[in-house]
Amino acid sequence: MALREIALIGDDILRLKAKEVTEFDQSLSELIDDMAKTMYHNQGAGLAAPQVSILKRVVVIDVGQGLVELVNPKITKIGNMVECEEGCLSVPGKRGKVMRPQTLTVVAYDRHGKKVKYNAEGYFAQAISHEIDHLDGILYIDKVIEGTLETITPKE
Ligand code: NI
Repeated sequence: MALREIALIGDDILRLKAKEVTEFDQSLSELIDDMAKTMYHNQGAGLAAPQVSILKRVVVIDVGQGLVELVNPKITKIGNMVECEEGCLSVPGKRGKVMRPQTLTVVAYDRHGKKVKYNAEGYFAQAISHEIDHLDGILYIDKVIEGTLETITPKE
């Protein structure tokens, strides 16, 4: 496993649409392991492959309930939108408020090509929505509620 470099805002790769995964092979497993390691190293709650400059539809998330990996995720059901505060490893030093679904259902595949399904709510649903946006070249700052984007003091 290796740490990968996180693409930062201004990098065009963050604005491109990622491609569906078609091969569930060793390189996909390595990518997912590296993404998880990179996410934990940077104390993130989620990471999408374009953030490590790989244009594949792969996401890792851990909101405190263990690692979740989603390959080719699709949201199939969406609940009420609620105001959430969030940040992004690709937009360091900022936080802002966005509208996210309070609940959602996502179907995806794991690294072995096995179908998985999650009924998510709260922070987990928020993270899934945020990470899937990355796969479509969308950053939370694109949808931030006007006047809520703020600069935060870096951690010491
Ligand atoms: Ni992000």
